[in-house]
Amino acid sequence: MRIAVMFMQTTRLVPWKFNPLFEQYSLQDAVKKASELEEERAVWSQLPLLTEIYARGWKGWQDMPGADLVGDLIKWWEEDRKANLSKPWYPTPSSCDLVWKGEMSKEEYAEVVLRRFCNVEAGQAGGSMGVANAYLLPNRDVRELALWWIYDEQTHQEMDKILNLACYQDETRLLKTAFEFTQKLSKVPETTVTKENLKMMSRFQVQRDGPPLLIGCLMLSEIINPWTNQMAQPALKKHYDFSNDSLAFVNVHTFADYFHIRLGQYMLAKFAVTKELKELCRAFFINTFMVQNERAEELYKELLTGKYKVKLTQDDSYLQ
Ligand SMILES: [Fe+2]
Ligand SMILES: [Fe+2]
Repeated sequence: MRIAVMFMQTTRLVPWKFNPLFEQYSLQDAVKKASELEEERAVWSQLPLLTEIYARGWKGWQDMPGADLVGDLIKWWEEDRKANLSKPWYPTPSSCDLVWKGEMSKEEYAEVVLRRFCNVEAGQAGGSMGVANAYLLPNRDVRELALWWIYDEQTHQEMDKILNLACYQDETRLLKTAFEFTQKLSKVPETTVTKENLKMMSRFQVQRDGPPLLIGCLMLSEIINPWTNQMAQPALKKHYDFSNDSLAFVNVHTFADYFHIRLGQYMLAKFAVTKELKELCRAFFINTFMVQNERAEELYKELLTGKYKVKLTQDDSYLQ
C-alpha cells in the first residue's frame, strides 16, 4: 500500500518542446545540427576535458596507451554487428524489423519500452554507484566524465518515461516495476568482479562492484545506439504516429551517443593500461553484447508467438 502511494504521480502531457530540429529537418540534417549543438553544450559545460573530447573530429584516444584495446573492442563490435545484421531480432526489441515494418502492435511496443525504462533506471542506479566509487579513487578524469555521462543519461531516462506515457502506460505501474527491478538486482551480495565471474552478473552489479573504469566500457558499448535509433525513429513516426516530443528519447539517441562513445574511448585508452584491466574491460564489453543479443533473440520469439509479457530477468539489464 505504501509503495503504491509512493509511486502515485500525476500523469502529465508533455508541456515542453524537445529537439524541434527533428520536426523541422530530415533525420540526417537534424542529427548533423543536433551534433553541432552538442559540441556547443560541451563548451558551455566549463569542463575543459569535455570541451577537448567533444571537439569536432577528436581522435585523441588513438595516441593513448590503451588505444589498442579500444581499437580491438570497436573491431569486435563491428564484426558482431556484421554477423547478426540479417537476423530479424537484431539489434534489440525496441528497434528490430517488427518495429521498422510497423508489425509490432502498439501494446507490445508499450511493454517493450516499459522493459527498457526498467533497464535504464537500473543502469542509472549501478552507474551512480560506480561514480561514487570513482570519487574514492585519485583519478579525477574518470569521475568527471562518468558523472557527466550519468547526468546525461538521467535526462534520457526522463525522456523514456515520456515515451512510456505516450504509449498509455500507467505511470504507477511503470515506476513500481522499475523500482522493483532495481531492488531485485541490488539484493545480490557484493563481490570482487573478475573477467570470469562477471558473466554471471547483472550490469548493475558489475557497475556497483567493479572498478569505476568499467563505466568506460558501457560508454563505448553505446556505439550501437545512433544506428539503432536512426532505424527506429522514422518507423515510430510513420507506423505508430508518435509526436516528435514523445520521441525525445529516440531522437536524442540518434546523435548523443556519438559523443558518449568518445568518453569511453578516452577513459579506456588513457587508463586501461595494465594487462589485467585490459582483460577485464574486454570481457565486460564483449559480455554486454553477447547477453544483449541472446536476450533480444528470446524476446523476439516471444513477440512472434504473441506471448510477450514483461517479466524481467537479470539479463535484461544489458538490453540497450
Ligand atoms: Fe542515453
Ligand atoms: Fe549514452
